[in-house]
Amino acid sequence: MTMTDKEILCEQILKLKEKRNAIILAHNYQREEVQDIADYTGDSLELSRNAASIKCDVIVFCGVNFMAESASILSPDKIVLLPEINAGCPMADMITVGSARNLRAQFPGYEYKGGYKYPADFTLRDIKKLHPGVPVVTYVNTTADVKAESDICCTSANGVKIVESLGSDKVICVPDRNLSAWIAKNTKKQVIAWDGFCHVHDRVIPDDIVNARKDHPDALVLAHPECRIEILEMADHVTSTSGMLRFAKSSEAREFIIGTETGLLYKLRADNPDKTFYPLRKDMVCPNMKKTTLKSVFHALDTMTYKIKVPEEIRVPAKRALDRMLEVK
Ligand code: 13P
Ligand code: SF4
Repeated sequence: MTMTDKEILCEQILKLKEKRNAIILAHNYQREEVQDIADYTGDSLELSRNAASIKCDVIVFCGVNFMAESASILSPDKIVLLPEINAGCPMADMITVGSARNLRAQFPGYEYKGGYKYPADFTLRDIKKLHPGVPVVTYVNTTADVKAESDICCTSANGVKIVESLGSDKVICVPDRNLSAWIAKNTKKQVIAWDGFCHVHDRVIPDDIVNARKDHPDALVLAHPECRIEILEMADHVTSTSGMLRFAKSSEAREFIIGTETGLLYKLRADNPDKTFYPLRKDMVCPNMKKTTLKSVFHALDTMTYKIKVPEEIRVPAKRALDRMLEVK
């Protein structure tokens, strides 16, 4: 039996992985073949926990830049490789610490109907100045320097819990306005929200759910908290990507409409061969998450690129915010 090019590449990756004493982490949105070669797949919270506890010399992070940065923040003694250096997260770039480098303007098609609340050059420091002493809860989808200026981080899996864990009755939540709205709906605390968004989730409109339910009347709708609040209010269940995997497995329902990036469908289907999954919208595809291929994973391990290393003066305060999050049970 002859080996296919893909099998040869996978074998080469596994050999290199052993040689480098490396571990491959992949986010749930990665391409199928990348998820298959990974040692661990997961949501942002699970991958952060893995990065903090794993024993190895090298972590190959198949995801986007902020995820590799988080791994480097939590595991400074390990070499963290991001196979595709241009795999970024536009939402993460919608907030900066103190200089105006704001990507919101590049997504006019997804402009929020209420309009932006802050001028385009508004920064994290500006909003902190407006609300002195109010703790900053920062979604992990942010750059390391934004985390470094925050009190605590959160993920889509634990946002409400993190806000509830704080003593203050007012919090600043950055950068996702949709996650912030979801948190505000589920806490009595006052949430001061930034107005960033994920262009993949923010495009979902109520008609998408109405039509999907018409087509699949027995299916449950699962939505990611990066979707708009009106979508979250219509959904049957709101949770992170791994939360969806757990929910689908334990649910009695046989059909599900999935309101998140379509990469998650691969594992949902593999884990539940007797259940049926439909994407809420076929165009919920994150181009940045799809940049990593088996070839780029091979290239990363072969050439030991691209190394992601957060400078100590940012890493230490950023780690404090991530550690505080990881300590909340
Ligand atoms: P989770 O996998 O943590 O739910 O995050 C989704 C996401 O958008 C990561 O970019
Ligand atoms: Fe960023 Fe959205 Fe892509 Fe996640 S899915 S990496 S939040 S752009």
